[in-house]
Amino acid sequence: MIELKKMTVVVGTGGVGKTTLSSALAVKEASLGKKTLALTIDPAKRLKQALSKSSLKNLTVMTLDTRQTFDALVQKYSPSEEAAHRILNNRLYQYVSTMMAGTQEYMALEKLYELHESNAYDTIILDTPPSKHILSFLQAPDRLAHFLDENILKWFLKPTLSGSSLIFKFIDRLTGSKLLHELSEFLLSLESLYKGFKDRSLKAKEILHSPNTLFLLVTNPERSVFDQGVVFYKNLHALHVSLGGIIINRVAHSFQLSPQEQKEFNKLKLENLSQDEKTVLDIFEQYQMLSQREKEEIQYFKEKINFKSARFPLIEIPFFEEDIYDIKGLNLLNLHLFK
Ligand SMILES: Nc1ncnc2c1ncn2[C@@H]1O[C@H](COP(=O)(O)OP(=O)(O)OP(=O)(O)O)[C@@H](O)[C@H]1O
Ligand SMILES: [Mg+2]
Repeated sequence: MIELKKMTVVVGTGGVGKTTLSSALAVKEASLGKKTLALTIDPAKRLKQALSKSSLKNLTVMTLDTRQTFDALVQKYSPSEEAAHRILNNRLYQYVSTMMAGTQEYMALEKLYELHESNAYDTIILDTPPSKHILSFLQAPDRLAHFLDENILKWFLKPTLSGSSLIFKFIDRLTGSKLLHELSEFLLSLESLYKGFKDRSLKAKEILHSPNTLFLLVTNPERSVFDQGVVFYKNLHALHVSLGGIIINRVAHSFQLSPQEQKEFNKLKLENLSQDEKTVLDIFEQYQMLSQREKEEIQYFKEKINFKSARFPLIEIPFFEEDIYDIKGLNLLNLHLFK
């Protein structure tokens, strides 16, 4: 069984079920009477609607909007209204704030810090973007700090500060744009935000490493997803964060046949069956094979992460017949998560 702490971060590769499971955990916590915040990223429309309409009064669901969070930060930490305006209207800022790899992760950290500090919630569940590398999420603070490294800034800023540099004019003429100019202007504007950004992102990192924060790793019972899961697992380990459990989501149900039933099944196959009957037996057999293969894959995964000596639970969640998009579905998931 999973035991949550004040902060739960749900991680895993793309499409494994992070958003669905985060939502289920949030519903569970809220129904226990805790003031709960679910910070989700791009939930499916139906799920989002179901959560926002839910009658759980302790549950707050927020969807992360990278651009909006970034804009709000610029507004808040710019030294003047004019400086904020200059950054927000810069073409490169507009590009970087939405497109640059890592900004989504970075903004998730920013939001997390803000909400954590507000102390308005007993528990926060943080969904993460479908980023392949958890490292980029956890190392966002370092990366941003690096990106804004003062030396780089100086290097870029020099030409601007010395007026209309020849190099700039030359490159602008070559590219037919004011790209470099805009870039240096952008960095110049960002410099005023640099310290605030760096301080807060390092604090966000502290929250992620605090004993009140647990990570849950989600994976699916397929070889390629497991392999990525192993990489995730090792990265989490290397970053010294606490792992509260691994969830293997969408596991095929297995029908355990007794030796007697297996015998009967084999006999049945030899009967003079109609095409439809044959198809049904065929599907059943293929399903059994799939389930068997998944069991082997799960074994492989357990060996890879040396599960024998692990101190966290590994939970299997069945493959539901339908997509999970309402509170009823999430509660069903919880029956497995908190068995
Ligand atoms: N156990 C399950 N059985 C059946 N369907 C599931 C199960 N878990 C999740 N799903 C479905 O799988 C789809 C993807 O799930 P979800 O959006 O939670 O994944 P994700 O990891 O957040 O994806 P992304 O990395 O793109 O953000 C959804 O349609 C969801 O309803
Ligand atoms: Mg998601």
